[in-house]
Amino acid sequence: MSESFYITTPIYYVNDVPHSGHAYTTIAADVLARWHRLHGHDVFFLTGLDEHGQKVQRAAAQAGIDPQQHCDRLMPHFRNLWEKLTIAHDGFIRTTDTRHHAVVRQLLHTLYDRQLIYRADYTGWYCTFDERFWTEKDVEQGNCPDCGRPVEQLSESNYFFRMSRFQQRLLDHIADNPTFIRPESRRNEVLGFLQKPLEDLSISRPKSRLSWGIDLPFDRDYVAYVWFDALVNYLSGLEYLPPRPSVDRFWPATVHLVGKDILTTHAVYWSTILMALEIPLPHTIFAHGWWTVNSEKMSKSRGNVIDPYTMVKQFGADAFRYFLLREIPFGQDGNFSLESFIGRINSDLANGLGNLVSRTVTLIERFCAGTVPCPDPAACAEQETELQAAATSLLQIAMPHHLRSDRIAYNRALEAIWSVVQLGNQYIDKTAPWVLAKAPAHEKRLSTVLFHAAETLRFLCLAIAPFMPNTAQAMSRQLGFQYDFSRALLKNPVAWGDGPTATTVVKGPSLFPRIAIPPQHGASMEQSASPRTMPSTPSSPEPDSNTSSVSHSTQESDCITIKDFQKVRLKVAKIIAAERIPKSEKLLRLRVDLGTEQRQIVAGIGKTYSPDTVLGKTVVVVTNLKPAKLMGVESQGMVLAAGDTDVISLVALAGDVAPGTTVK
Ligand code: MSP
Repeated sequence: MSESFYITTPIYYVNDVPHSGHAYTTIAADVLARWHRLHGHDVFFLTGLDEHGQKVQRAAAQAGIDPQQHCDRLMPHFRNLWEKLTIAHDGFIRTTDTRHHAVVRQLLHTLYDRQLIYRADYTGWYCTFDERFWTEKDVEQGNCPDCGRPVEQLSESNYFFRMSRFQQRLLDHIADNPTFIRPESRRNEVLGFLQKPLEDLSISRPKSRLSWGIDLPFDRDYVAYVWFDALVNYLSGLEYLPPRPSVDRFWPATVHLVGKDILTTHAVYWSTILMALEIPLPHTIFAHGWWTVNSEKMSKSRGNVIDPYTMVKQFGADAFRYFLLREIPFGQDGNFSLESFIGRINSDLANGLGNLVSRTVTLIERFCAGTVPCPDPAACAEQETELQAAATSLLQIAMPHHLRSDRIAYNRALEAIWSVVQLGNQYIDKTAPWVLAKAPAHEKRLSTVLFHAAETLRFLCLAIAPFMPNTAQAMSRQLGFQYDFSRALLKNPVAWGDGPTATTVVKGPSLFPRIAIPPQHGASMEQSASPRTMPSTPSSPEPDSNTSSVSHSTQESDCITIKDFQKVRLKVAKIIAAERIPKSEKLLRLRVDLGTEQRQIVAGIGKTYSPDTVLGKTVVVVTNLKPAKLMGVESQGMVLAAGDTDVISLVALAGDVAPGTTVK
């Protein structure tokens, strides 16, 4: 039997329609599931809906309908979205399913029989929104420490799970299994949480207060706490969902993907429940960060919710999938801006991958009668060796490294793929097939070059398939490979040149038309982006005679004159002091020496550089930028740095230059 891979997403509350936060985790899980399927692993990918509890009961009451009716009404919004986003889940669970109820009741019974559940009176601070009790010391000025809403004092008789008994075992498990909670910062958070004595967990709610749930098997006046009910889905889904994947085959789960807000419920509640049931713990719980909009939490009341349906409709499923996973490291928070999204579509997708596909296919059509030619080893040069090494290492080294379930780094994987896209475009620029085509003596070299370009695309489409399944399919169609990406195409190592030979290319529509940037870019996502527009200059396989030989044609409207450029005053400066700005991960306060004066500059380089690593560095500074305050600190200039979104490196000088020297 091949290696098993069981991946789950949280099951989403059906109190409202899905938003981009839900789409994020589901896309992330889909990528890993697809990657493992391509490798021939035995995969089960489970997602679904959390249909019980106060939130759902409240939403149904507001809609004036019965909770079940409410769930049935909302369910298609999730299912349809997954279809639109090309999510290939194996199971979709709903906690209102009576077969799920049976498993929850059976597990509650087991714990009750083992005397790990007891009844007690309890008085505590209750947050209705989060459906949980807090102790006096947790409550912050009468508000819930989690959601900030007011809490109320509640005295109630409830059933409790003896969670406290498992505290030490859980600490030992975390210590013995360094990859159990990922990333490291989240693991430390859980360890911090476990420094305080762990309390027992209330696993019931009296029906008098909340009736929408699963009846406790040992007391019909109570329903199960929604989190107990929900967490059990990871096991019950294996038991009864078609095609009955079975606990034996898939448990323990390889990875539970969760948002950082629900890490405690998974790492602490779920782990201790499993321990009490004598069921092994999942291998990894990976907590990802949150998307914000203009640095604010996405919420309906703020009107800044990013509607995934709109994103897919306007920009396409693959572009949305790409952006969400490329833009921020999976474990970290990130800001969603339409401007960055469109920027990535235009640069990475249209000018990058789309351009490479389009020019390769056009060149093969034009110079090889539409058939991918055979290479001539004698006509190979160092350029081909370099391209081949980069493309093959993508499948053999980069992807297995970045997509390991305990260190998931989608952004790094995509970065690696796009470095090959860039190399491919540079390769075409440098080898200039349109020049080779002019001399019959270069015929073998021309065939070799176009073969290598097409072969690079074959590797690229295998690498991007988990991330962008529609694009991979379209690429394979245009290149005539006709791959079926649901098959285990990467089960055996793929070697350079071992693909289908002499395939016929079929030019298709542009994969990623350039998008015009809407005038109000960066605004709330509910203001819609302008519709897709066709490229103003069709991507051309060869540079025109007036431009330098770069692959990306510069749009007229993007051009500035030399006079415009000279308005920016650039000078060499030396960093003479640096410190972090409190409460900011990104900002450093720098003191720079400009030869004739010193200035204070606030630079957003703190994620890449610590203060001690920039001290003494010679940098380039924009000196005539209007001063601005960042986190209350005045910045009197800007330090130049490289990086499409995140800072990768400060801009350095090739030689020794004195502070104050002009840069032009
Ligand atoms: N029903 C529970 C999960 C039970 S799992 C046994 C729940 N549901 S939820 O619908 O509120 O949230 C589901 C997931 O969406 C969480 O992982 C949460 O982190 C994620 N997100 C909600 N908003 C988000 C963002 N703005 N950004 C990224 N993910 C966020 O909690």
